[in-house]
Amino acid sequence: MPSNYDNSAWFYDRLSKVVYGNALVNAQVYLLQFVKPNSSILIAGGGTGWILDELAKQYSSGLKITYVEISANMMALSKKRNWGNNEVTFIIGPVEEIAIGNQFDVVFTPFLFDNFREDTLQKVFDRLHQRLKPGGIWLNTDFQLTGKWWQNILLKSMFLFFRLLCRIETSVLPDINKQFKKSDYEVIAEKTFFGTFVISTALRKRD
Ligand SMILES: C[S@@+](CC[C@H](N)C(=O)[O-])C[C@H]1O[C@@H](n2cnc3c(N)ncnc32)[C@H](O)[C@@H]1O
Repeated sequence: MPSNYDNSAWFYDRLSKVVYGNALVNAQVYLLQFVKPNSSILIAGGGTGWILDELAKQYSSGLKITYVEISANMMALSKKRNWGNNEVTFIIGPVEEIAIGNQFDVVFTPFLFDNFREDTLQKVFDRLHQRLKPGGIWLNTDFQLTGKWWQNILLKSMFLFFRLLCRIETSVLPDINKQFKKSDYEVIAEKTFFGTFVISTALRKRD
């Protein structure tokens, strides 16, 4: 059974702020500079949808956003956001299974991959890779372990918490970099947050 963040939707953003302050928000907002005007964007696992407000602050119109969320409660909150005059298509379901016909200029995966075991990661990655245009930009942000003792403790606590509450399938971070390397993505920018525990990366799919 896939994970479902329904149970955590009502407190997710507050919990994130208590533990990380603004770091998880800043890590995602940093990546928005790589979105060009009038882009088509696929957002997978957008959570409560605050990223739609942030995109509208940057471009009040012209974006074509496809917003995919597996959690109905997260989606309900996302639909209350202000996305300006941008066009948003909301789709509920696992991004690796739903039918999405078109290709996008930008794919955005904010704290999505840390939910998966390697086999699911591979499936989700391949699906999103197919949906990104050649030369398109993939914006990814997630946790990473860089050898600090507290990172492992924090990560294990998060996995335990979200396994119990949201049935996420993994208890270790999958190897996200391996997927981008395998498909020959070019890193165009990278920045860390919350010490080095969070990494935001903008990557380009080669033509
Ligand atoms: C860790 S939360 C991050 C939420 C948001 N990006 C943020 O940073 O606040 C992961 C989100 O991905 C969604 N999700 C998990 N698996 C998914 C899948 N296979 N397809 C689409 N969304 C998924 C969850 O419902 C949840 O909202």
